[in-house]
Amino acid sequence: MRTTAAIPVARRISGFNYAIRNIVAEARKVEASGRTVRYLNIGDPIAFGFATPPHLVEAVQRAVRDGHNGYVPSAGILPARESVAGELTRRGMPMSADRVIITSGTSEGIELTLTALAESGDEVLIPSPTYPLYTAVLAKVGARPVFYRTDHTNAWLPDLDHVRSLVTRATRALVVIDPNNPTGATYPPDVRRALIEIADAHNFPLLADEVYADLAYTGPVPPIASLCPDAPIISFSSVSKAYLAPGWRAGWMAVGQSERLDDVLAAIKKLADGRLCSPGPMQYAIPAALDGDRSHEAGFRAALRERAELTTSRLNAIDGMTTVPPTAAFYAMPKVNLPPGITDEDYVLALLRATGVLCVYGSGFGTAPEDGFFRVVFLADPSQLSAIYDEIGEFTRAFLARG
Ligand SMILES: Cc1ncc(COP(=O)(O)O)c(C=O)c1O
Repeated sequence: MRTTAAIPVARRISGFNYAIRNIVAEARKVEASGRTVRYLNIGDPIAFGFATPPHLVEAVQRAVRDGHNGYVPSAGILPARESVAGELTRRGMPMSADRVIITSGTSEGIELTLTALAESGDEVLIPSPTYPLYTAVLAKVGARPVFYRTDHTNAWLPDLDHVRSLVTRATRALVVIDPNNPTGATYPPDVRRALIEIADAHNFPLLADEVYADLAYTGPVPPIASLCPDAPIISFSSVSKAYLAPGWRAGWMAVGQSERLDDVLAAIKKLADGRLCSPGPMQYAIPAALDGDRSHEAGFRAALRERAELTTSRLNAIDGMTTVPPTAAFYAMPKVNLPPGITDEDYVLALLRATGVLCVYGSGFGTAPEDGFFRVVFLADPSQLSAIYDEIGEFTRAFLARG
């Protein structure tokens, strides 16, 4: 007798949420009703007409043509690891190629590291709001995200006393995203130093998500480990953002020189062996990116700064909305003063249905639903952004007037 009962899935899937992509299901419904959707949900510069630098494309094409199509070492090809080590050392984080692992984007480095560090029941300190991969991976691992506040009334900087108050014997790592997604904040040296001191004093690693390091509007931000190379710090980045090749999934992680991290490095390498390697030909883009021509970066930063200024001025002109000016990357996190009983998701879905503009609600990044935050990706052309901000303004006025 055959059964038609649904096949059950693992319980931990219910904790695995990635709002940035989940919300697209709602957008598809709106599209099916005949309305055009403007996708301001995913931070992909290619989707908005920015182009991968030609010398990176050539490096990957050459690798494929030259037959580099087999498995490569689990830790990655040596030229890529040497380039990462050289780049970080030049920027003040002394690094050797044997402590670098080439990963499928920053994402895989984060997943390998959290898997190596955290057991079921362990705690990891995560910023709120956060990039949601962290909570998603912790749900898979069975560990608990413990959110520390970053404060929109103080340029979205971490509340250091709050971080300190959350440390327990179960804390296994402190995640720092600087420059930050979703807030666009960059942290000054005294705040960075204080975060290092917390991790260092309690002997857990600081996981430094530095994927936007080159996209601060005033120029590249040095690795946080440059402030204290002996502290237990692991740095993550990729060619996805500043080098305009997110689909290639070419990233890296660098495990700080502290001997305290040697066992963690060995555990990560063991896990990396199990997934064989990250895509081989794409790894050839890394030396091209880090040792080659970077002239595209200044233009990209200028384009982002222009869009950030437009975003801040236009959204701050809307009654009932405030936005902290971003200082890096391509995200802003405005706050709408919602009437009681209305959530950020209600607002974002109503905006989508009324205008076709798709943003992500703040609670997808860990803020309280009633706080009314949402994230805007401002990579579109300024004239398009301007038209979108007109629509957001008109919609918001009507939405708030309804009470
Ligand atoms: C803070 C942060 N970390 C990691 C990632 C993932 O980057 P990658 O494409 O290198 O996996 C993103 C992508 O948006 C991000 O914003």
